[in-house]
Amino acid sequence: MEVGTMVEINSETVADKVYESGFEGIFTPLFRVRDSSLGAYLQAGGYTAIERALGMSPEDVIEEVKKSGLRGRGGAGFPTGVKWGFIPKDAEKKYLVCNADEGEPGTFKDKYIISLVPHLLLEGMMIGGYAIGSRDLIVYIRGEYWLEASVLKRAIDEAIPYVKQKFNFDVNIRVMQGAGSYIVGEETGLLNSLEGKRGHPRPRPPYPAQKGFMELPTCVNNVETLAAVPFIIKHGADAFRKFGTEKSTGTKLVGISGNVKRPGIYEVPMGVPLKKIIELAGGTDCGGKIKAVIPGGTSTPPLVADELEQATLDYESLASFRTFLGTAACIVICECNDIWKVAENIAKFYAEESCGQCTTCREGTRFIEYLFHKIVEGTYSWSDVDSLEEISTYMQGSAICAHIDACAMPSQKIISTFRRELKGGKRNHD
Ligand SMILES: Cc1cc2nc3c(=O)[nH]c(=O)nc-3n(C[C@H](O)[C@H](O)[C@H](O)COP(=O)(O)O)c2cc1C
Repeated sequence: MEVGTMVEINSETVADKVYESGFEGIFTPLFRVRDSSLGAYLQAGGYTAIERALGMSPEDVIEEVKKSGLRGRGGAGFPTGVKWGFIPKDAEKKYLVCNADEGEPGTFKDKYIISLVPHLLLEGMMIGGYAIGSRDLIVYIRGEYWLEASVLKRAIDEAIPYVKQKFNFDVNIRVMQGAGSYIVGEETGLLNSLEGKRGHPRPRPPYPAQKGFMELPTCVNNVETLAAVPFIIKHGADAFRKFGTEKSTGTKLVGISGNVKRPGIYEVPMGVPLKKIIELAGGTDCGGKIKAVIPGGTSTPPLVADELEQATLDYESLASFRTFLGTAACIVICECNDIWKVAENIAKFYAEESCGQCTTCREGTRFIEYLFHKIVEGTYSWSDVDSLEEISTYMQGSAICAHIDACAMPSQKIISTFRRELKGGKRNHD
């Protein structure tokens, strides 16, 4: 097919990896409709949240989102209402940017929100724009999602005249397509790319809320974060808080892959045991023992068997195991897989995707890949194993952005946990 051809999306094929978890969350009922048109969204009660928001003051909208406890679903988990509150009220021009770069390996949830319920995302963006006082909304979408970009553009063409005519709400939404780099998912790299520059992350401060796109105040939010907002405004913060735990509120879209029978997207309330999610995905596909589970995309340190017994899917539980919820992209790794090959593959990704600005990241990620490669090949020495553990520890936090940690933290966990399985690999104190 010629690139650029408009394609009629068959939502059945797009949705074949979205499964029901047996729980009515905030996305599942809408995913079930399997029709991305404005008509279907209106029939499902769409665009009543923006109507409600427009009847509130922008400050009250921000308060409601703060009360809901919604935290960013793009990886860092920053409270959304607090972030919106950072945008200066008196700035004449400001932007809301939706981060649809979705580059974290294992992560494929935003793709389904965009292709199945694009209007839910657009409604969330409109509410966010209204709350921060911006009518200039931009979606930055990864280049590989050209099909999703065309769904989104079609939805925008339907939505803008609808809200103008129905609520006299004038808004401008643009879609910008990236060119296939991971690092532009990092919000300041994204802003540079939007400006037509190299997608290099910027040093902070200044933060995007002060100087973002074109040096103007900008709020960057993930797709899933924004798509959760209409539910909060329509049903109230308390209804959202009914899902999840005290501190990790709401539901989460989990993308599960690796050694499971039914890899795909499942919506679950925050706080469910990780083991339950693996059960939902049909259990392991090889019948073998689980060696490790990456809980939130490859940048999050894996959990090992005994941790898996206790871990639940929420910010606090995963932090207690010195890992993160990230994007909730769970990757199950069984004993039938070579953990060293997995580690080498992950390190290779981060080495290739380093923007190269910071020496520690440019050289360190490559060196980690090289050392894991030596382990895979069986040509390592004990000083290589020690170096790997030391470098992956000291690299952490030593660059402009968190790309370096995305490589260093999982590598450190893997080498410190599994080195004793290497022939003669025990430390003196083991
Ligand atoms: C290396 C790197 C890659 C990232 N990639 C993404 C991404 O693909 N999508 C995303 O939403 N956030 C990504 N983030 C997080 C963003 O910088 C930012 O925190 C997020 O878009 C904010 O939205 P939220 O508050 O709604 O989560 C990445 C961060 C880093 C350090």
